[in-house]
Amino acid sequence: MLATALKKAGYSVDTAADGTVAVEKIRAQPYHLVITDLQLPTLSGLEILKIQKEIDPTIPVLIMTAFGTIEEAVEAMKQGAFDFLPKPVDMSHLFLLVNRALEQRRLLIENILLKEEAQRAYGIPKIIGESPAILTVSHNIQRVAPTDATVLLTGESGTGKEVFSRAIHQLSSRRDKPFVTVNCAAIPHGLIENELFGHEKGSYTGALTRKIGKFELADQGTIFLDEIGELHMSVQAKVLRVIEEQRFERIGGLETIQVNTRMVAATNRDLQDLVAKREFREDLFFRLSVFPIHIPPLRERMSDIRPLAQYFVDKFARELHRQGLHLSPEAARAMEAYSWPGNVRELQNTIERGVILSDGNQIRPEDLNFAFEQRKETSDFAHLFDLSGSLAEVSARAAQAAEKLKIRQALELSSWNKTQTAQMLGVSYKTLLNKVRDYGLE
Ligand SMILES: Nc1ncnc2c1ncn2[C@@H]1O[C@H](COP(=O)(O)OP(=O)(O)OP(=O)(O)O)[C@@H](O)[C@H]1O
Ligand SMILES: [Mg+2]
Repeated sequence: MLATALKKAGYSVDTAADGTVAVEKIRAQPYHLVITDLQLPTLSGLEILKIQKEIDPTIPVLIMTAFGTIEEAVEAMKQGAFDFLPKPVDMSHLFLLVNRALEQRRLLIENILLKEEAQRAYGIPKIIGESPAILTVSHNIQRVAPTDATVLLTGESGTGKEVFSRAIHQLSSRRDKPFVTVNCAAIPHGLIENELFGHEKGSYTGALTRKIGKFELADQGTIFLDEIGELHMSVQAKVLRVIEEQRFERIGGLETIQVNTRMVAATNRDLQDLVAKREFREDLFFRLSVFPIHIPPLRERMSDIRPLAQYFVDKFARELHRQGLHLSPEAARAMEAYSWPGNVRELQNTIERGVILSDGNQIRPEDLNFAFEQRKETSDFAHLFDLSGSLAEVSARAAQAAEKLKIRQALELSSWNKTQTAQMLGVSYKTLLNKVRDYGLE
């Protein structure tokens, strides 16, 4: 009777004679809505509800109840039923609930999609890297994120300080609350206090309305103070008070505003050095350094270069409709030999340019067009070797790199005569063969 009425109203309807058949059907294909009685042969309505919620929790389940089973209906609601429909069924009530259930599911899906979309647009970019150094950073971030501790991120320009600060917010229970960024270097000195704390109407000439500051906007969420090393001494004391007491006044205001804000700060300057030069308050420095996280420059974690390059090639190839594009082995090697003074940001820009300049499906070294020369000017080992990990790991990596170079050079000098090469290197023929194979020199 229900099926006939619903079909007449334009819905496509499938029926099941008992609980087992119903479960087979919902497992076999997705429906938009399930309507079920509580008492059924073989499997109860509650069990169907439970299984449906496991398969897809967004599908609404409408429960029909006879007089006297109200307790079970309440139980069903607790377990996620959309609503219940008393029997005998009133058709207009049925249509009302069906419409509402379908509408709610549509909104739910839309919401999930919008959230995913927003995540893609504004959310955390994926953090790429497999070096021991970046894994340590990621590990520390995961440990500190759920706490309310103030975090200080340090590292050269382009190492990913902003990405990691967003990750901290996303991994905290504040993730659905605001993430407010203030770039202390970008705001003129005279305006930074206004920006951070806001002001009352008429607090100075030109203050025509009340302004709500960033600390207030970040209430319940996270405030990210980027380039905190540029913050003027006079403002530092007020920032310290917010960290310690979570309280401040708007400029020209008497009322004390109480907030609950988590602070993450970043700088590419040496704050200790600024403290020594009396350009940064020592008390604020100590307060910020409760949980310092240093992001090493890319040249000290060379094993991240390839995965990052790969990630950006895929990303820009997709955006520019150049599917199938990849880095040539020579280009990948050139990237590994470069010191990347601009770190990940420079690498990202280099790849974007490379994707645009490349013909065919390969990015060649000449498409990358970066300052290769730079490496030759420096004899600093940090520019040549991946310095991440323990001393033993670094030594082993360096020894292998040197061996590989030396063997290749000897092979070239002897025109790939292996007996002669082994003699030149002072190793047995067998040792040489093993090493040639291990280093992939054939
Ligand atoms: N590990 C990583 N994985 C993926 N992308 C990264 C990573 N690190 C950095 N990036 C990307 O590199 C760019 C620079 O990162 P970010 O802006 O976080 O650097 P920064 O340390 O804040 O630099 P600056 O001090 O110049 O502001 C961004 O586009 C970011 O998405
Ligand atoms: Mg930044």
